[in-house]
Amino acid sequence: MVNVLIVYYSLGSNTKTAAEAVAEGCREKGAEVVLKTGTEANENDLLKCDGIAVGTPDYFSYMAGGLKDFFDRTFYPTQGNVTGKPYVAFVTHGGGGRAIKSVESICNSFKFKKVAESVLVKNRPSEHDIIKLKELGHALVAAIKR
Ligand SMILES: Cc1cc2nc3c(=O)[nH]c(=O)nc-3n(C[C@H](O)[C@H](O)[C@H](O)COP(=O)(O)O)c2cc1C
Repeated sequence: MVNVLIVYYSLGSNTKTAAEAVAEGCREKGAEVVLKTGTEANENDLLKCDGIAVGTPDYFSYMAGGLKDFFDRTFYPTQGNVTGKPYVAFVTHGGGGRAIKSVESICNSFKFKKVAESVLVKNRPSEHDIIKLKELGHALVAAIKR
């Protein structure tokens, strides 16, 4: 069984909706999904999973503080044990979307391996966005199985 961790943050509901679509995509490919906010998830969640999907709104051109909190708390406890872990990322934004840079930069510091192009969604995910987000989940599970 493939285990996927989805860590996201969302003050409104846009990124939560996006995270749920990624989760559905992962489940469609047979994965077991743990879906948590950045303030709920911990280092054990990260160590246990086979791959991770990370999602955030763009707040001031950076990731949300609630997701950054997850990365801050888990970096030292997982350092060296998550190298090469497959990851995908998604961002919802109001027209900018530069927060993706901060996400990809931190994932690079953790030495995760990016396995699909990140998905950017303007505000609330449309039906088309939901399809792209599900496909992101498919791509993550496929990369884990490879
Ligand atoms: C405090 C705050 C700062 C924001 N800053 C940006 C920004 O710099 N660039 C941008 O494109 N959107 C910005 N937005 C818009 C949000 O990224 C966008 O509405 C997002 O979908 C909200 O996600 P959520 O509903 O999951 O909280 C900001 C929103 C808030 C509340």
